[in-house]
Amino acid sequence: MKVTVVGAGNVGATCADVLAHREIANEIVLLDIKEGFAEGKALDIWQTSPINLYDSRTIGSTNDYERTKDSDVVVITSGLPRKPGMSRDDLIATNAGIVKTVTENIVKYSPEAIIIVVSNPLDVMTYCAYLTAKTDSKKVFGMAGVLDTARYRAFLATELNVSPKDIQAVLMGGHGDTMVPLPRYTTVSGIPVTELIEENKLNEIIERTKFGGGEIVKLLGTSAWYAPGAAAAQMVEAVVRDQKRIFPVCAWLRGEYGMNDIYLGVPVILGKNGIEKIIELQLNEAEKTLLAESAEAVKSVMNVLDNMNANA
Ligand code: NAI
Ligand code: 2OP
Repeated sequence: MKVTVVGAGNVGATCADVLAHREIANEIVLLDIKEGFAEGKALDIWQTSPINLYDSRTIGSTNDYERTKDSDVVVITSGLPRKPGMSRDDLIATNAGIVKTVTENIVKYSPEAIIIVVSNPLDVMTYCAYLTAKTDSKKVFGMAGVLDTARYRAFLATELNVSPKDIQAVLMGGHGDTMVPLPRYTTVSGIPVTELIEENKLNEIIERTKFGGGEIVKLLGTSAWYAPGAAAAQMVEAVVRDQKRIFPVCAWLRGEYGMNDIYLGVPVILGKNGIEKIIELQLNEAEKTLLAESAEAVKSVMNVLDNMNANA
C-alpha cells in the first residue's frame, strides 16, 4: 500500500510518522512545496525505523508529484493557519487555492486514490477537494470528528478517572464551535455516560470539546498536531486495512439527515472503498436542531467558496 501525505508541516509529518511506525503503509511519500523540507522530515522519520523496528519506507519530495504516482490514499494537510490581519474569507481563498492545486496534481498521478482532507477550514476544504477531484464523493472526505471525539473522550477519561480506551462517543456537525457532541450516544464500556457524571460537569466537557482546538492554539501559539496527525492516520488505517471502522467523518450528504449537497460530520463506516455507508442515527428534536444550526454555519462557509468560484 502506498500513502501520500501532502504538507510536511506539523500535522503532515506527525501523520507520516504514525503511518510508518505502525506499518500502516509500506510506502509513504511526504510532499511539501518548501524546498528540501519533506525530504528532511522523511529522512528523520526513516531513521527511527531501526529504533522502532519497522520497515515502512518514508520518502520526501519537493513538489514532485510523479513520486506520488499510484497512491492508494492521499492525506492533504497543506495550508496556512490564519494569520493576524487575515479575514476568514482570505484564509478560505488562500487555502482553497492550495487545496485545489494539490488535488489536481494528486488526481493526475493517482486517479483512483482515496483523498482525506485535513486542511482548514475543514468542511469547506473537503468540499473544494471534491469539486476539484470530480470523483465519487465516497472517496473524498475530511478528518475532524475523529479528533474532536478524541478530545471529548480524553476529557471524559480524565474526569471519570477511567481508561480512554473504554469511552465511546459520537459527535456530529461541522469542525467548529457548532459541532454537536451527543451525550445520548456516549458510553463508558456500555454504561451510558449520564449514569456516571453530573449533568453540569458533562455540559462543561461538551463546551470544552467545542473549543478544544482553540484551547491548544492559546497554549502553543499554533494549532495541535499530535492528535490531528494520529487521527488522520487512524482513518488511513481503516481504509488500507479495510477495517469497516465506524468514525465520525466529514462526508458529502445526499439526503441523509434530510440534507443535500453539504459536507458535514456524520458517523460512517470506513473501509477499502472509502465511505462504505453513512449511518443515520435516530436523533431527537433537540439534537436535530443543533445539527441543523451546525449545517447552516458550514453552508455559509461553503457559499463563500461557491461565490469565489463563480467570480473567478
Ligand atoms: P504547518 O504550517 O505546520 O504545515 C503546513 C505545510 O503545508 C507547510 O509545511 C507548507 O510548506 C505546506 N504547504 C503550503 N502550501 C503547499 C502546497 N501548495 N503544496 C504542498 N505543501 C504546501 O501547518 P499544520 O499545523 O501542519 O496544519 C496544516 C493544516 O491542517 C492547517 O490548515 C490546519 O489549520 C489544519 N488542521 C486541521 C485539523 C482538523 O481537525 N481538520 C487539526 C489541525 C490542523
Ligand atoms: C484543531 O481543531 C485548529 O482544526 C484545528 O486543532
